Amino acid sequence: MKVVFIGDIVGSVGRDTVKRLLPWIKDKYQPHIIIANGENAAGGRGINAAITRELFEWGVHGITMGNHTWDNREIFEFIDDEPRMVRPANLPPGTPGAGSAVIKAGNKELAIVNLIGRTFLPPSDCPFRAADEIVDELRKKHKCILVDFHAEATSEKIAMGWHLDGRASLVVGTHTHVQTNDDRILPQGTAYLTDAGMTGPRDGVLGMEREGVIRKFITGLPSRFQVADTKWILSGVFADIDEATGKAVKIQKIRVDEDSWIAS
Ligand SMILES: [Fe+2]
Ligand SMILES: [Fe+2]
Repeated sequence: MKVVFIGDIVGSVGRDTVKRLLPWIKDKYQPHIIIANGENAAGGRGINAAITRELFEWGVHGITMGNHTWDNREIFEFIDDEPRMVRPANLPPGTPGAGSAVIKAGNKELAIVNLIGRTFLPPSDCPFRAADEIVDELRKKHKCILVDFHAEATSEKIAMGWHLDGRASLVVGTHTHVQTNDDRILPQGTAYLTDAGMTGPRDGVLGMEREGVIRKFITGLPSRFQVADTKWILSGVFADIDEATGKAVKIQKIRVDEDSWIAS
């Protein structure tokens, strides 16, 4: 099963990029299932119903979230009725939405799990114990499992990759918005990438307007950041999974921007 995962979609630049490049992604990688992180899709903060609908219309099959899950209040109106969207599983019991889902496309099935890290992020339950519980339960019925570990620290994400090696098909990190260069298949067959990177404005600071961010670093004064309006970048990862075993046979990071991409 061929899977494409698209890193954090940031604002309208990110959404326009996904819309423009999805035909190219489908042609180049022939994915059976496309998953995207949508935590920054609405103006950099959260996601809303219209954007969720659009992403599915364009060909995304499942959406993962992160620390910005609740930033757009609209999500409370639909997350419990949207089985294709997951928020971090290790949030307090009773939190709206689900932490895992089984995504179906054609005759393919991919279980997806969203977890959030605890290093330099607000308190949450242990993502490693949550991973044990959820992944082991999913494995009773599903071989192909994708885990989006939304975390700041590379060490926490690498540790999760090793923790789930042989149990998940693909462990991909999100949240830093900067793609790492360590895509590999771990010894027990888990495809791993520390961070997928983001899909949005290339020439800001993690997708935000650079002037405001620089000003804040220099002055220390509070400022509200806006999504930048610059050339785009699309970041993500492709994995090919052996459906008989759930083990990955290939992983390849995806990163193209407005200057490097040539429409075919
Ligand atoms: Fe993000
Ligand atoms: Fe995040």
